[in-house]
Amino acid sequence: MSILKDTYGRHHSYLRISVTERCNLRCTYCMPAEGIQLSPKSHLMTADEIFKIAQAFVKQGVSKIRLTGGEPLVRKDIDAIITRLSSLPVTLSITTNAISTHRHIETFKKARIKQVNVSLDSLQTSRFTTLTRRNYLETVQNNINELITEGFEVKLNCVLIKGINDDEITSFIKLSKDKPLHIRFIEFMPFDGNKWNIDKMVSYKEIMNTVNTDFPKTDILRINDNPNDTAKNYQIKGYQGTFAVISSVTNPFCSTCNRIRLTANGKLKNCLFSSNETDLLTPLRQGDSILPYIEKAVVTKYKIRSGMESIEQFKDPDLHGKNRSMIAIGG
Ligand code: GTP
Ligand code: 5AD
Ligand code: SF4
Repeated sequence: MSILKDTYGRHHSYLRISVTERCNLRCTYCMPAEGIQLSPKSHLMTADEIFKIAQAFVKQGVSKIRLTGGEPLVRKDIDAIITRLSSLPVTLSITTNAISTHRHIETFKKARIKQVNVSLDSLQTSRFTTLTRRNYLETVQNNINELITEGFEVKLNCVLIKGINDDEITSFIKLSKDKPLHIRFIEFMPFDGNKWNIDKMVSYKEIMNTVNTDFPKTDILRINDNPNDTAKNYQIKGYQGTFAVISSVTNPFCSTCNRIRLTANGKLKNCLFSSNETDLLTPLRQGDSILPYIEKAVVTKYKIRSGMESIEQFKDPDLHGKNRSMIAIGG
């Protein structure tokens, strides 16, 4: 039996690798204002170690790898990492803030990356600057257009926060009218230092209420979700692109979870919300097999959200507060 199958029969074929804890933005929902304690460089996986760990996972049945961060493209050797991973028989993709994708287009193409997921939470200059504490909206918009022109499938990830950007739902969806863009609204989730509170979250239901108010009901089409999809997908009739909701808080999709995460310092997280981590980098550096460690992480995975089954548990800071900041997980 595969060591990637857990006790609930879920096969973990999708590995998310965070390659750095650094980012060139400072999004308030992702990291604490004071920043995080960065791991010393010697504790981070080298390009070679990333490849070796990825290769071990692929041998066990991983067929999809996503690179995340922090912001993966701030890592100096990111092109070499991508090129190396592209020699593995996997679907390779990346989640980025698109500030510097223009410098990596050729690497993406050579590595046969087809999908690029871009984080963008506001289409308004001043709001983007407040949310990210940086002034890069125009660069990001130009780079999204370039990615589309160059033939990449682009998904836009938009974390909605009540009273901050929830009045932009319709503007975001309208971006998908004439462009093959996939807009995904994400329910705001709790992580260390992001001042989460359930009242700040915009729920799947509230998002759909806005959509139902702003578009004719018969134009709102529920379209098929891919297997293991995080998103519930929709399309406005006649639009080129689509929109979707990622409802980890109000409608978790854990029963079809196929994801496992490797942090930049070489720790395996069996769930986005797991505070328990399994160190793979130390055994790798000692020349030991990492397979028993992977197996242990997979069999100890909880059924739902690392044990936070109910929304009441999810609200409890004693339960969700022991996790890392999102910037050090990679989403
Ligand atoms: P696709 O491969 O295109 O489906 O992307 P993805 O949704 O797997 O990855 P992406 O990095 O674009 O993540 C989008 C949002 O979904 C982020 O807010 C993630 O935190 C969230 N997300 C991704 N995977 C999981 C997961 O396993 N569980 C939960 N709860 N949320 C997830
Ligand atoms: N809640 C939900 N999604 C988040 N992301 C970052 N922080 C949060 C949070 N607190 C998203 C980013 C990025 C993805 C990897 O995770 O928007 O697109
Ligand atoms: Fe998987 Fe955990 Fe996300 Fe649920 S919350 S889908 S178990 S990673």
